[in-house]
Amino acid sequence: MIIGVPKEIKPDENRVSLPPDKVEVLVSDGHKVLVESEAGQGSRFSNNNYLYGAGATIVSDPAEIYGAAEIIVKVKEPQPEEFNLIQSGQTIFTYLHLAAEPDLLNCMLEKNVTGVAYETVEDDKGRLVLLHPMSEIAGRLVSQVSARLLTNIESGVGKLLSGVPGSGNCEAFIIGGGTVGLNAAIALMGAGADVTVADINLDRIREIDTLTGGQVKTIYPTPAALTEKISSSEVVVGAVLVPGAKAPRIVTRDMVKDMMPGGVIIDVAIDQGGCVDDIKPTTHQNPTYIQNDVIHYAVTNMPGIVGHTASISLSNATLPYIRSIASNGVAKTISADHNLAKGVNTLCGQITHPALAESLSMAYEDPKEMLS
Ligand SMILES: NC(=O)c1ccc[n+]([C@@H]2O[C@H](COP(=O)([O-])OP(=O)(O)OC[C@H]3O[C@@H](n4cnc5c(N)ncnc54)[C@H](O)[C@@H]3O)[C@@H](O)[C@H]2O)c1
Repeated sequence: MIIGVPKEIKPDENRVSLPPDKVEVLVSDGHKVLVESEAGQGSRFSNNNYLYGAGATIVSDPAEIYGAAEIIVKVKEPQPEEFNLIQSGQTIFTYLHLAAEPDLLNCMLEKNVTGVAYETVEDDKGRLVLLHPMSEIAGRLVSQVSARLLTNIESGVGKLLSGVPGSGNCEAFIIGGGTVGLNAAIALMGAGADVTVADINLDRIREIDTLTGGQVKTIYPTPAALTEKISSSEVVVGAVLVPGAKAPRIVTRDMVKDMMPGGVIIDVAIDQGGCVDDIKPTTHQNPTYIQNDVIHYAVTNMPGIVGHTASISLSNATLPYIRSIASNGVAKTISADHNLAKGVNTLCGQITHPALAESLSMAYEDPKEMLS
């Protein structure tokens, strides 16, 4: 099969869908991989790494990649400049977020594109296996980002997360103890903060207690408990997820007003709308704004600035699916793998993901029935 790897063109997006070592695996499987020139630049992979180490074919014009490849493997959803390049009947494997991208959805339906969305592929336990690696990264980035934002130079409270002997350290409070929450908790604890996690899932908070030997404190998020912890914490992190739905707005403006001046709120759940009342999305170029003397950070693609780590981590998870699709064909792979089938959002001009169809009040078709 011919596999296409275009350069990502979304602003501040440094990831590439396949690093050279993953391309090498696909080439040894007998496939041809077309990589756009400089696609790996932001992740620090050169054209030569792809050419000589991995056996890729470097192509300078993205139109040539879209024109020749049966499957396009990307990181972010195709941007409007790419819509014209997409071919009829092509397969696109990437983060799609189609509920929020009506123009892209129309384009994919009109062109009968098989759209397989990373964010809805599941494993047997219902875990979002291709969202997981980016949540790990976003969670770990929370510690680095908050350490910087707490400094005077960023109008922060002027404290080290760990403090030094005799000065006292910082309190960090994380709402949502899933993948982002646990990774943020461990990284913040490692940086010397006192960490508390709130989650409505009691099994999860028991698990966090066991995993961290009780070093990360856990609480149940009643409004009173949230108010108390938010007011005493230098760092507050929003990391809730209700799969398929907008994030619940559980941190109210009054709770934020109670925070200390120079405190930091990092709403990682911003890609699902955010869990802090009236939070606004920010970008890596302008990552923060100050409201009620509190620094708000709400970047929607946090892993985009650690392109190297994120590209390796994402492709570790996607490679088995790409190998399977490339070797068996997309229709056969979807029919045989019910977990991958959950990633199929569009097929033959139909919406094939129930939550997407419901959120847009459009008709749903079962992809496996369509293929049988
Ligand atoms: N901004 C970014 O760049 C970025 C990157 C990766 C992930 N994310 C987002 O981060 C969020 C969390 O992702 P995740 O992978 O950790 O999800 P997850 O499903 O692993 O964890 C979510 C947790 O939130 C808990 N929860 C749900 N409702 C709650 C409530 N009302 N109060 C307290 N806890 C509640 C759940 O029980 C669960 O443990 C998602 O919105 C995800 O899309 C953002």
